[in-house]
Amino acid sequence: MTTPETREHIFTVETVPLKYGRGALRELGHDIKALNARRIALFTDRHLATTEHVAIAREALARAGLDVVVYDAVRVEPTDTSFREAAAFAVDGRFDGFVSIGGGSVMDTCKAANLYATYPNDFLAYVNAPMGQGKPVPGPLKPHLACPTTCGTGSEMTATAIFDFVSENVKTGIAHRALKPTRAVVDPSTIDTLPTGVVCSTGLDVLTHAIESWTARDFRTRDTPAEPGLRPPYQGSNPWSDIGSMKAIELGGRYLERAYADRADTEARDGLMFASTLAGMAFGNAGVHIPHAMSYAVAGLNHRYVATGYEDETPMVPHGLSVVVNAPAAFRFTAPACPERHLQAAHALGADTRNLTPDHGGEALAARLADIMRNTGCPNGIGALGYTEADIPALVEGAAKQKRLLVQAPRDPDETNLADIFRDALRYW
Ligand SMILES: [Fe+2]
Repeated sequence: MTTPETREHIFTVETVPLKYGRGALRELGHDIKALNARRIALFTDRHLATTEHVAIAREALARAGLDVVVYDAVRVEPTDTSFREAAAFAVDGRFDGFVSIGGGSVMDTCKAANLYATYPNDFLAYVNAPMGQGKPVPGPLKPHLACPTTCGTGSEMTATAIFDFVSENVKTGIAHRALKPTRAVVDPSTIDTLPTGVVCSTGLDVLTHAIESWTARDFRTRDTPAEPGLRPPYQGSNPWSDIGSMKAIELGGRYLERAYADRADTEARDGLMFASTLAGMAFGNAGVHIPHAMSYAVAGLNHRYVATGYEDETPMVPHGLSVVVNAPAAFRFTAPACPERHLQAAHALGADTRNLTPDHGGEALAARLADIMRNTGCPNGIGALGYTEADIPALVEGAAKQKRLLVQAPRDPDETNLADIFRDALRYW
């Protein structure tokens, strides 16, 4: 039990240095050379491998005289098998630097490959307990420049690499501060041609990252760790993460529907890209909670869904959709713990809160979020992904395993609460 004597008073900021702006990819050669890397593994996926973004990056690296080998076999929504294959490539290649160009799947795969190439070990050694052994990473990894090409995951800013553990039917990952990329290079021109279905999925992921880190339990509700090295990388909401969370909620509320409706609306897409990076900084510092914990079960139990914009991929629920379908219901549940914060989030997202009191915060936030989901072609709750009441016990079992995330919620959900939230998430309109 946390008491005034034991409670945490300290928070830390260990954010990833950022280069942001149109044309940033053209400077990749300079940036990785400055980190003393000469033999570079360039991670991407098979779609992006033929695009001008990867061509620009390769040209920039070649101009700097670097030796580059491309790995384009990254799987969208990676699995334990695809992580192992990428790691084997990285071990064999004896690289001294990594560049990832793509969405969260590419950046996460690159983080894992860098880890196993730098500190070889059994695959499960570094995977989060209880699935894996959760061993700490022994030291710094090789330089990694992470270049997102979607306005969503914020993976360029975070210390996690997520994968689908197929035999266990659940998503899990590797989480350690050493996994943070050395630098994020965010070039908004990479999302000019992003299909609207992908804008929907990744943009809704941005919004939930921002609202989850804004509403994450306050860092002062934890105990001070026995020694500084044991302070968790996901610390709970704090004055620094609040800056990025709140601004990202505002930008997402202003730009997501516009970016979805008009692919030529560069102001909206650039704004969303910046929101994604801000939200990544915030949740990479504070953590996310119930919607993400639930998402791992939602995605892990459904391998038949084909989302708009992802028709060429193996059937799966894209990450952002698997998260946001739980979000309105989850925020209704968490609102009583910090109603004022939920009302502030609703207001920042664009809800009319003039006549509302904090008691209405959860409902106002859920309603505005559901509006944005409906306006951006998002499935109407987990029911639209094929789940019914009969699936709720299995979904609860999957979500309850995500203790690392659930402890970040401002209100602790037990299994009955999780079942109620899944039931509320079946349908929103
Ligand atoms: Fe996410």
